[in-house]
Amino acid sequence: MSQTLDPKIEQKLTLDLKTTLASNRLVGLWQMLKGFRWLFVGALLAVALGALARTYYYQVLRYVVDELLSGEQSLANLPWVALAFVGLAALEGLFAYLRGDWSAKLSEGVTLRLRNYLYDHLQRLPFAFHDYAKTGELIQRVTSDVDALRRFYADQALGIGRIVALFVINFTMMALMNARLAWMSIITMPIIVAMSYWFFGRVSKAYDHYQDQEAKLSTTLQENLTGVRVVRAFARQAYEMDKFNRENWEKYHRGKKLLVMHSLYWPISDIICAAQTIAVMATGALMAIRGEITVGTYMAMMGMLVWIIWPMRNLGRLIVQVSTGLVSYQRVVDVIMPDREDIVSGSVALDTQIQGGMTFENVNFAYEPMEVLKEHEKVDKKKNRKARKGQPEPEASEKKAEALKPVEVLHDISFTCAPGQVVALLGSTGSGKTSIINLLLRFYEYQSGHITLDGVELTEYPKSLLRRNVGIVEQEPFLFSRSIRENIAYGAGREVTQAEIEQAAQAAAIHDIILTFPQGYDTIVGEKGMTLSGGQRQRVAIARALLKDPRILVLDDATSSVDTETEEQIQQALSVLIPGRTTFVVAHRIQTVMGADLILVLDKGHVIQAGTHADLVRQPGLYRDIYDIQSRIEEEIVEEVADVAEEEPVEAFVEEGEYAPVYASVMPLN
Ligand SMILES: Nc1ncnc2c1ncn2[C@@H]1O[C@H](COP(=O)(O)OP(=O)(O)O)[C@@H](O)[C@H]1O
Ligand SMILES: [Mg+2]
Repeated sequence: MSQTLDPKIEQKLTLDLKTTLASNRLVGLWQMLKGFRWLFVGALLAVALGALARTYYYQVLRYVVDELLSGEQSLANLPWVALAFVGLAALEGLFAYLRGDWSAKLSEGVTLRLRNYLYDHLQRLPFAFHDYAKTGELIQRVTSDVDALRRFYADQALGIGRIVALFVINFTMMALMNARLAWMSIITMPIIVAMSYWFFGRVSKAYDHYQDQEAKLSTTLQENLTGVRVVRAFARQAYEMDKFNRENWEKYHRGKKLLVMHSLYWPISDIICAAQTIAVMATGALMAIRGEITVGTYMAMMGMLVWIIWPMRNLGRLIVQVSTGLVSYQRVVDVIMPDREDIVSGSVALDTQIQGGMTFENVNFAYEPMEVLKEHEKVDKKKNRKARKGQPEPEASEKKAEALKPVEVLHDISFTCAPGQVVALLGSTGSGKTSIINLLLRFYEYQSGHITLDGVELTEYPKSLLRRNVGIVEQEPFLFSRSIRENIAYGAGREVTQAEIEQAAQAAAIHDIILTFPQGYDTIVGEKGMTLSGGQRQRVAIARALLKDPRILVLDDATSSVDTETEEQIQQALSVLIPGRTTFVVAHRIQTVMGADLILVLDKGHVIQAGTHADLVRQPGLYRDIYDIQSRIEEEIVEEVADVAEEEPVEAFVEEGEYAPVYASVMPLN
C-alpha cells in the first residue's frame, strides 16, 4: 500500500524519538542518526579521503618541479606523473560522488522518518495540547524546521568533517615539509575561532527569533484561509492585510538582522585570512630565495596553504549554519517531548463487550492547559532575566499566566442511566454540555468524582476501547476534503460495502440529497469540491457515526442546523437505531428531547433539573419555561399558517417545513 523509496531504508524508519533523544543537542542529533550512522561515517571517510587525494596532488606537483624539471630524475617518469595526476583527480571525483550519494540518503532518510514521526505524534497528543498549540506554528515546525535539520545532516555535519580533514591533513603535510611555515599559516586561527564563537551565540538567537516570526506569519496565513468566510463576511480584508503586513515586516527586519550578521562576519574574516595568506606567501618566497626551501616545496606549500585558509574562512560560516540546525533541532524536540495520549493502558481487556450503563457521581472538571511548545519557559526565563536586572516583571506574561489558570466548568455532576437509555442534555451555550461529552470519551480527564461505565471506573478503560464503542456527531462536524463515500466510511475502521454506506446515509436522511449531486457518493466535499450546507454536513456526520454501529451514540447538537422536518426524519431513523444503544443527545428543541429517559437541564456547569419530560413539565423551572415558550411559538406559527392556508391553500408550504428558520431564530437557547 505505502510506497517507500528504498527497502533498506524502510527498515530503519521506526524509531521512538521521544525516548531516544538526549537533552544535549549534539548528542541528540547523533541519536537521531540511528540506523544511518554507517552511512554518515562512510560519508565522513569519503570526505577525508577526498581531501587527502587533493593534498597528494600538490606533492606530485612538488616532485615535478623539484625532481623532474631540475633534471635530478629521468624525464621518462613523466607518463607516470601524468597518470598520478589523472588518478588523484579521479579518486577525488569518486569520493565526492560517494559523499554526495551517502549524505543524500542519510539526510533524506533521517528527515523522512522524522516527518512521519512528527505527523504520527501530533495526532496522538491530547486535546489539551491542541487547544493551546497554533496550527500554523506546528506546520512550520514539521516543515521548515525539519528542512533545516535535513540541511544540517546533508551539508553542515559533513562540512565540519571536511573542514577538519582538510585542515589536519594539509597542516600535517606542511609541517612535515617546513614546520615554521606551517605554524605561521595558522597563527590567526585563535582569532577566527573566538570570532566564530561570538557570532555563533548571536546568530543562534537571531535565527530563533526569525523562525518564531516565520511561525507567526504562517499562523496568520493559515487562520486567514481557514476563516476566509468570516473575513469576507465582516469585510475585514483590509484589517487582515494590515496584520499580515505587520508580521511580514517583522519577519523582514529579523531576516535582515540575521543576514547583516552574516555580512559582518565575512569581511572581517576575509581580511584576517587575506593578511595571513600574504604573510605566509611572502615569508615562503623569501625562504625559497634564500634556499631554505626548494621551489617545488614552495609551490606545493602554497597550494596547501589555500586548503588551510579555506577551512578557517568557512569555519565561521559553518558554525553559524550549525547554530541554525541546533535551533531547529530544539524547536522540533519541543514538539516531540509532550506526552502522548495513552490510548491502550487500562485494566479492562481490549475486547470487552460494553453494555452502556453510565453513572456520574459528583464529577468536577476544569480544562487544564498543557504546556505547549515551551512558551511558558520562554516567559519564565525572560521574567528571571528581568527580575535579576531589578526591572518590574513584564505584564504580558502575567496576563498569560492568568489566562492559563484552569477554570472549573462542571460542578458536582451526578446522574445514572441504564444500558440502552437515552439521556438528553439541555442548557444554554456554555453551560457545559459538550464538556460532559468530552469526559465520556476521555478527551479530557475529570479531576474529582467518579464516572463509571458498566460499573467500572472510566479511567480503567483503555481509550481506544472506549472510542471504538462510542459514535459521536459533533456540534461542528468536520469533513475531510475527500469523497462523501470516504467521509461516511471513515469511522468504521474496516472495509465497508456501498450498500452499508447507503443504508447509513438513508438513516441520516441524506441519501436522496447525495443522489442529486452529479457525482453522487463520489462528490468531493470541502475545499476543492462542492461545499455542503451545515445541515447536510451534520447528516453526513450522522451517517458516519451510524455506520460505526457503536454501543454508545453521542449527538452533540447534531440536528441544530437542519430544519424541523429533516430533524423529524432523522429522529425517526434514529428511533429505529437507538434501541439497544445508550444515547446522549444534546439539543435545544423540546421536541427532540421529549422522548428521552432522562433529561438533564444544565446551567453554568450545574445540573439544575433532572427527570423525564413528564416529571419536568409538572414542576416550575427552566425546563417548563422553555417548554412554554417553544409551544407558544409553535401554536402561533400553526395559527398563522392556518390563516394563510384559508386564504390560499398551499399545503406544500407546511409540509416543506418552511417555518423552521423563524422557529429557530427565536429560540432562547444555543
Ligand atoms: N477546550 C477548552 N478549554 C478551556 N475551556 C473550555 C474548553 N472548551 C470549553 N471551555 C469552556 O467550558 C465552558 C463550557 O463549554 P461547553 O461544554 O462547550 O458548553 P456547551 O457545549 O454547553 O455550549 C465554557 O465556559 C467554555 O468557555
Ligand atoms: Mg457544545
